[in-house]
Amino acid sequence: MNQILKKRVLTPVTKEIVVSAPHIARKAQPGQFVILRVSEQGERIPLTIADYNREEGTITLVYQEVGFTTKLLGKLEPNDTIMDLAGPLGLPAELPEKGCVVAVGGGVGVAPLLPKCKELHKRGVNLISIVGARSSDLIILEQEVKECSDELCICTDDGSRGFHGFVSDKLKQMLENGLKPDEVVAIGPMPMMKATCNVTREYGIKTWVSMNPIMVDGTGMCGACRVTVAGETKFACVDGPMFDGHLVDWDEAWRRANTYREQEKCANERCRCGGEH
Ligand code: FAD
Ligand code: FES
Ligand code: MG
Repeated sequence: MNQILKKRVLTPVTKEIVVSAPHIARKAQPGQFVILRVSEQGERIPLTIADYNREEGTITLVYQEVGFTTKLLGKLEPNDTIMDLAGPLGLPAELPEKGCVVAVGGGVGVAPLLPKCKELHKRGVNLISIVGARSSDLIILEQEVKECSDELCICTDDGSRGFHGFVSDKLKQMLENGLKPDEVVAIGPMPMMKATCNVTREYGIKTWVSMNPIMVDGTGMCGACRVTVAGETKFACVDGPMFDGHLVDWDEAWRRANTYREQEKCANERCRCGGEH
């Protein structure tokens, strides 16, 4: 069970694995995620179900090696197994049936964005995708996003490819030029999602974001994934992970995401820092 069937290196820091998980594949919907544990002593980390194949009983995970656990996962090869895999968790994304949607993906955020793009395309929604990364070698899943988009725009922070600037700058330019999407879906690093919401707010365009706070149990019991939305406490694992970005308290979310920065640094450097990571 939970055997890795395929592995693809997408960028020097991003990997894609196809995992045998028939029970999860049977029920997965765009927007949902799994929580996995790589080894017996390891912590549980959430990863979005980037794709699923119900017939073959597989799910696809795309992850960036940012710290201890994602690096450990990166060492697994085809035929290795993932210790525990729980899911599908979270609410499926609320996606429109018609109209025009702009999908904005930053860095590894393109992985969780892809299943929404595929579903929107299937529904016949006019889909404009804006995909960005720090530099051209860090762009992931370009072909896959292109296949389900009516228009695709690539952006890089350093100008090494496509539009020179942030994805939120490109969106701003499009809106200034008269584009009137019904909704925007933005997934990526927190500052990118916040910037995108700042752009769409003045146009009054509903903007969905995928919150990725620290999670522990993923079932609404531990409270680790608290986010404040419209002044109310929500648990991203059971009430999300998608929320109306104009209602999210971004400053609090950023503070909470950085709570364990020191411990994460220590674990990353393979130090023991007040117990196991
Ligand atoms: P850590 O030591 O935990 O962290 C290292 C660095 O990464 C730190 O700088 C830290 O600030 C940052 N970081 C830690 N946790 C998160 C987080 N939750 N979000 C953003 N940055 C974080 N990552 C993917 O690569 N692909 C996905 O599809 C994906 N989907 C996710 C879905 C959900 C619902 C959530 C909550 C998170 C998702 N993440 C995804 C983020 C992923 O869970 C974290 O990158 C992972 O837990 C980091 O573990 P680590 O031990 O390798 O690094
Ligand atoms: Fe524990 Fe959401 S992760 S309540
Ligand atoms: Mg962590």
